[in-house]
Amino acid sequence: MKFLCLLVMTLFLFPLQGKAMGLCEIQILTQHSFFVGVNANPGSRPVAFITGGSAGIGKALAFEYAKRGYDLSLSARRADQLDEVAREITEMFPEASVLGTRADVRYEDELLAQSILTRAYLNSVNVVIANAGVAVSGNLSELSEEEFRFQFDVNVFGLRNTIRAVHEDLLENRGKVGLIGSVNGIVAFPNSGAYSASKAAVRAMADSWHGEYAPHGVTVTHILPGFTETEFRQRESHFQNTEARAENDRIPTFLRQPVAVAARKIVNAIESGRRQRILTFHGNFGVFLEKYFPSLAAFFKVKIEAARLRSIEQDSSL
Ligand SMILES: NC(=O)c1ccc[n+]([C@@H]2O[C@H](COP(=O)([O-])OP(=O)(O)OC[C@H]3O[C@@H](n4cnc5c(N)ncnc54)[C@H](OP(=O)(O)O)[C@@H]3O)[C@@H](O)[C@H]2O)c1
Repeated sequence: MKFLCLLVMTLFLFPLQGKAMGLCEIQILTQHSFFVGVNANPGSRPVAFITGGSAGIGKALAFEYAKRGYDLSLSARRADQLDEVAREITEMFPEASVLGTRADVRYEDELLAQSILTRAYLNSVNVVIANAGVAVSGNLSELSEEEFRFQFDVNVFGLRNTIRAVHEDLLENRGKVGLIGSVNGIVAFPNSGAYSASKAAVRAMADSWHGEYAPHGVTVTHILPGFTETEFRQRESHFQNTEARAENDRIPTFLRQPVAVAARKIVNAIESGRRQRILTFHGNFGVFLEKYFPSLAAFFKVKIEAARLRSIEQDSSL
């Protein structure tokens, strides 16, 4: 019933200006979505459904899937950024079609609307990547309840909402699921407890979904990226403000992997149906240390926190 209401709302109540056929220009479909591309033969190409497609890893994944012959259903909160990404993709890959939907992963209805529009304008989904995520940093005892809930609403409930929105498609197509977790879900550092807890939940959900979907021929891949060159860390703690802060990334440049490299590795892992993939050397090393030398890992974490506090003290005395 809820699905029917959404369908009516999505297709009829918002102004619908027409489906793109053979045109490579932006078509406004509804108040919340647009279509760009040449979808002259709908249904002939596989479809990738990606959340957080407006920037960073999600945007790079969109390019990687377009390169591999997929049509794309992208969503994020910033419609202007999505629009830009769609234009860039269709310029580089003129045969690709892109559906953009303004959706906040915290709200299941918005992802259901993306899913309905995807079926209507592209096809049913073959690959879904629950990528949208934020990091709320701060000492656990100091974070407000609102901040802590926001962290879980986006990273945990958002992931659940994403997969549920395309569940039927996954079963129908024996599809593929990519869940973007974090090394922090295994190696939890001080000052990032809420983020680490949310990514530990992603890890557990990946394990459960893997078992639940395997009998249906659906693969589930849990991705742990490690430090990647995006705006992610610049946005930390800005749990309501999405503007990036350039000065906030304290991770040395040599430790950050280029985002296009990360996207290629992620797509390879999902295509091959791997259960889990840690993308970086330092990520693998951290997980190894945590697993086999937990006391040493704990010692380093205390040192890192002490260094962070010292640097704050120095900054405030300047
Ligand atoms: N970069 C790293 O070093 C790193 C390391 C480990 C794990 N990760 C994980 O990788 C994923 C992507 O991060 P990134 O590095 O690409 O960060 P990013 O550059 O900040 O991009 C985050 C994406 O998520 C979207 N997003 C955030 N909140 C959303 C919401 N409530 N609803 C819908 N979309 C939302 C953003 O779009 P809008 O702002 O337009 O909504 C943006 O497209 C995250 O899950 C993150 O935890 C990143």
